Amino acid sequence: MRVPARARRAALLLATLSLVALAVWSWGVREAATPLLASGPVADPAAQVAHGAVLARAGNCLACHTARGGAPFAGGRAVQTPFGAVWAGNLTPEPDTGLGRWSADDFWRALHWGKSRDGRLLVPAFPYTHFTRVSRADSDALFAYLRSLPPVHQARPEHSLRWPLGTQPALAVWRALYFRPGALPPEPTRSAEWNRGAYLVHGLAHCGSCHGSRDALGGQRAGGDLAGGLLPQHTWYAPSLYDPAEAGLGGWAVTDIVALLRDGISARGSTRGPMGDVVRLGTSHLPEADLRAMAVYLQAPGGSTAPAPAAALAGLAPHPPVEPTVAANGARLYERHCADCHGTSGQGHPGAWPALAGNRAVTLPAATPNLVQTVLYGGYLPATAGNPQPHGMPPFILTLSDAEIAAVLTHLRTQWGNQGPPVTTLQVHQVRAGAPAH
Ligand code: HEC
Ligand code: HEC
Ligand code: HEC
Repeated sequence: MRVPARARRAALLLATLSLVALAVWSWGVREAATPLLASGPVADPAAQVAHGAVLARAGNCLACHTARGGAPFAGGRAVQTPFGAVWAGNLTPEPDTGLGRWSADDFWRALHWGKSRDGRLLVPAFPYTHFTRVSRADSDALFAYLRSLPPVHQARPEHSLRWPLGTQPALAVWRALYFRPGALPPEPTRSAEWNRGAYLVHGLAHCGSCHGSRDALGGQRAGGDLAGGLLPQHTWYAPSLYDPAEAGLGGWAVTDIVALLRDGISARGSTRGPMGDVVRLGTSHLPEADLRAMAVYLQAPGGSTAPAPAAALAGLAPHPPVEPTVAANGARLYERHCADCHGTSGQGHPGAWPALAGNRAVTLPAATPNLVQTVLYGGYLPATAGNPQPHGMPPFILTLSDAEIAAVLTHLRTQWGNQGPPVTTLQVHQVRAGAPAH
C-alpha cells in the first residue's frame, strides 16, 4: 500500500510531537519527585568563600565565562557548537545582567538541573550534565565565592543556535535522552581518595565533556564516560583516558599525573590546545590533595562509569604503504623545518622540545586533527607556576602547503619505530578549513 507523502509527513510530525510531550511530561514528573536539597549551616563564611574560589578553578568557569581581556566571570564569550554559538553569561553579582538577584537555591537548580532562575532549560554547552554531580555544600560555596566578586554590568548576547535546536521543546527531548541528574554513587570498595577523585573528574572538572565518547547524534552517554572523542568542532581529539594506547594513565606514577595537571608537562607527556587551557586556567590552581585524588582515580578509573571497549585495536590495523615520493618529501621537510628542535631521530630535548619518537600523541590514529593543529598554528605549552616559560613551536600555516604538512606528519608517524597511519592532504585541508580551536 502506498502512503501519500503528506500523510507520512503528518504521521512523522505527530510522532515527534508526542515524543516531545512525553519527554516534557516525564521530566516534570521526575523533577517534582526530587526534593530540593537544603543548604547546610556554614561555620566560617570566609573559609566558604575561599573554598568556592578553589571549586571555581576545578570547574574552570573562567574558561567559558570570561571574554578575552574582559572582566573575570562577567561573561561575553561564546561556546561554539556545530549548531551555532551559545553565550556563557555574567556570573558576577550584578542585579540586572548577572546573578545579583539569584538565591543559593536558584544557583543549585542551575548546576543540578540545568535550569535558569526563570525556569528556562539551559543549553548543555553549559556542562550541567557533569555539574549535576556537585554536592549542595560545594554549590553553596561556589555561589558564595561568585557573590564576593565585584559586580560588572554586561548583558549576555542572544544565542545563535539553528532552529529548532535550542528551543525549549528540543532541549526537553535532548534532556530526556541524555541527562541524568544526581550525585555519583560512591564506590565503597575504593578508597576515600579515589572517590574524591571520581567526584572531581566526573563532576566539577567535567573531563568527560571533552574526553567522553559520543553517539551518532553527537550526544554523550547519560552519566558520561572517558572513552575518548572528537570535540564538537572536530578540530581536536580528546583521547581515551582508559585506553593505554591513547591517554590512559594506568601505567603512570601518581606524581607524573599530578605534574601533568599542575604544570602542563610531566616526564610522560604534555598538554596543548584546549587541554592546555584546562591546565592553565583550572587544574594548575588546585591544591595538591585534589590533584592527587584525581590522579589516584585516573590511574584506575571505572566503577559506575565502566570503561568502554578499548579502541586500541584501531591502531593495529595494517596501514596503507607510504608512497615513495611522499616519504622522501616528508624526510626532507622534517630535516629542514623540524629537526633543529625535535632532533634528527625525533628524540626531542627534555624540558624544551617534546620527543616525537615513541610519543603516543603522535601515533594515535584518531589524534590526526591535534597534529595538524599543532603544525598549522604552533603554540606553547600552558605557562604555569611549575613551567613558567614554556618553549614555543612556530606556526607553519604560511610556510607549508596541505600536501607538505601531510607528508611531514606521515614522516613522524612512520619513523623511529613509530607505527601510525599516514596523514592525508584531505585531512590537513579539513582542519585548515574548520574553525581553529586556537
Ligand atoms: C564549557 C563552557 C562552560 C563552563 C566550563 C562553565 N559554563 Fe556556565 N554556562 C556556559 C554556557 C554556554 C551557558 C549558557 C547556557 C544557556 O544560556 O542556555 C552557561 C550558563 C551558566 C549559568 C546559568 C546562567 C543563566 O543566566 O541562567 C550558570 C549559573 C553558570 N553557567 C555557572 C557556571 C559555573 C559556576 C561554572 C564553573 C563551575 C561554569 N558555569 C562553567 C558555559 C560554561
Ligand atoms: C576542553 C576539552 C577538554 C577538557 C575539559 C579536558 N581535556 Fe584532557 N585533553 C583534551 C584534548 C583536546 C587533548 C589532546 C591534546 C593534548 O594531548 O594535550 C587532551 C589530552 C589529555 C591527556 C593526555 C596528555 C598526554 O600527555 O598525552 C590527559 C591525561 C588528559 N587530557 C586528562 C584530562 C583530565 C584529567 C581532565 C579533567 C580535569 C581533562 N583532560 C579535561 C581536551 C580536554
Ligand atoms: C623552534 C622549535 C620547534 C620547531 C622548529 C618545531 N617544533 Fe614542534 N614543538 C616545539 C615545541 C616547543 C612543542 C611543544 C609545544 C606545543 O605543542 O605547542 C612542539 C610540539 C610539537 C608536536 C606535538 C607533540 C605532542 O606531544 O603532542 C608535534 C607533532 C610537533 N611539534 C611537530 C613538529 C613538526 C612536524 C615540525 C616541523 C614542521 C616542528 N614540530 C617544528 C618546538 C618546535
